[in-house]
Amino acid sequence: MPTDALVLTENPYNAEVATSQLDEAVTPTDGFFKRNHYEYPAIEGTWTVDVDGTTVSLEQIQQHPFRRFESIMECAGNGRTLLYPLPPGTPWNLGAVSNGMWGGTSLRNVLGDTGGALEVVFEGADFGDDGRGFYGRSLPAAEAMREDVLLCWEMNGQPLTREHGGPLRLVVPGAYGMASVKWLNRIYRSDKPYQGYYQVEDYQIHVPGKPSRPIGGLRPRALITRATAQEVRGWAWSGTGPVTEVEVRVGQGSLKAELGEERGPYAWRSFRCALDLGPGKHCLVVLARDAAGNVQPEAPQWNTQGYENNCAQIVTV
Ligand code: MTE
Repeated sequence: MPTDALVLTENPYNAEVATSQLDEAVTPTDGFFKRNHYEYPAIEGTWTVDVDGTTVSLEQIQQHPFRRFESIMECAGNGRTLLYPLPPGTPWNLGAVSNGMWGGTSLRNVLGDTGGALEVVFEGADFGDDGRGFYGRSLPAAEAMREDVLLCWEMNGQPLTREHGGPLRLVVPGAYGMASVKWLNRIYRSDKPYQGYYQVEDYQIHVPGKPSRPIGGLRPRALITRATAQEVRGWAWSGTGPVTEVEVRVGQGSLKAELGEERGPYAWRSFRCALDLGPGKHCLVVLARDAAGNVQPEAPQWNTQGYENNCAQIVTV
């Protein structure tokens, strides 16, 4: 683990991305942010998964067609510390995000079809003494059958490490990280809405006076990795469409950043904007927009648990 990865809690282990590794388009595994609700589970012997009552070995899963692609992993609590009053939960600043290269097979290759079920449920092997059972989440059946929903055993070209859910995890590109269940133990089709703690209690948006709702798709965001009087640069991403524009506001002026190569529909994309700032302090505000017309809000939108805060980042140079 690089020394500049900000460790927020040791057990369970929660750490922000290492800032020294933020120049890399694919975040190296050791500096990749890590988010856990419980202690790492023990991984012993041959890994098997209960798929609708049938025991399937990792080796069997690995016989299916392999594919790999880049995707953002971002915690829904990223940016929580920018909210006031500060909601409870792990105090993530802006480092609960990284871009990984994930390899595995489409869930649908292993599951077949959903057989008319409402949802597919995924259970991890980790649990605590809080009575909440295993970490589990569900996906609507149609979402689970998307080709890009992956049973993943490879990260950044290496076997998936235990820290990131190895031997086998789910990767749901375009969704916030809580959907990508690690240490997959059990997968099953269900006709009823899943009632697990991390589905119905946690990861909900509660705003006083409004009906609660589940967390939506990844919102657009630009993360500044370097800002000087001469340039601002960083990464931009969105789960609701490709990033089409990054706007840089300086004082009353507005500039369009240059966008780097597209790395795929779920990856982040670099941006860079040349600046020519005179002496003194300057405030930069950076906002990403996506093809669906979604744009970062200028001010944070508060909710009781501090999720989905994608407000524009402000830096002083
Ligand atoms: N899966 C299990 N089994 N247990 C967890 O605590 N955390 C989720 C998700 N999958 C979690 C999990 C959350 S909230 C996030 S943001 C991502 O894993 C983080 O993945 P990473 O640690 O590989 O970065």
